Amino acid sequence: MDLKKFVTIVDDYPKPGVSFKDITTIMDNGEAYKYATDQIVEYAQDLDVDIIVGPEARGFIIGCPVAYALQVGFAPVRKPGKLPRETISVFYDLEYGQDELTIHKDAIKPGQRVLIVDDLLATGGTVGATVELVEKLGGVVAGCAFLIELSYLNGREKLTNHDIRALITY
Ligand code: PRP
Repeated sequence: MDLKKFVTIVDDYPKPGVSFKDITTIMDNGEAYKYATDQIVEYAQDLDVDIIVGPEARGFIIGCPVAYALQVGFAPVRKPGKLPRETISVFYDLEYGQDELTIHKDAIKPGQRVLIVDDLLATGGTVGATVELVEKLGGVVAGCAFLIELSYLNGREKLTNHDIRALITY
């Protein structure tokens, strides 16, 4: 299946000059959504994954069905103030300013093998911070899977020591 056909390009969203990749048209098609999930599950097959970690919000949409299929757990990475118990956090740089991501302190047990799943690899800031959170808790990042990689933003350079799989590349 050519998954790229199911991505809708929205020009000048959320601001002029940006070509937004809308994945809702993958998700609202049962076959395409299942195919995308199955492709990531296949990638994970050889990685001996104990748990999936996904950043909000679109990382949940892709990561949860993968966790279900692999019969492993899912741990959410969220913006500050959203997780109810004790968290750790990581700050990361945006084009202008900084952002913060958090995870529950007990979400990952030391030595657990983690697959990070998100919809999009752009600058790599989000996944870089997610890797840091996992590693701070003693987890081992077994791989990182994305629906889409915007290769011209060089996000991979932030992940040189990690295995990356993207289903669609622009
Ligand atoms: C988007 C996307 C990734 C991230 C990729 O999330 O879902 O998580 O940006 O960009 P980066 O590689 O430059 O960090 P966003 O922060 O828009 O949050 P959302 O999923 O809640 O909309």
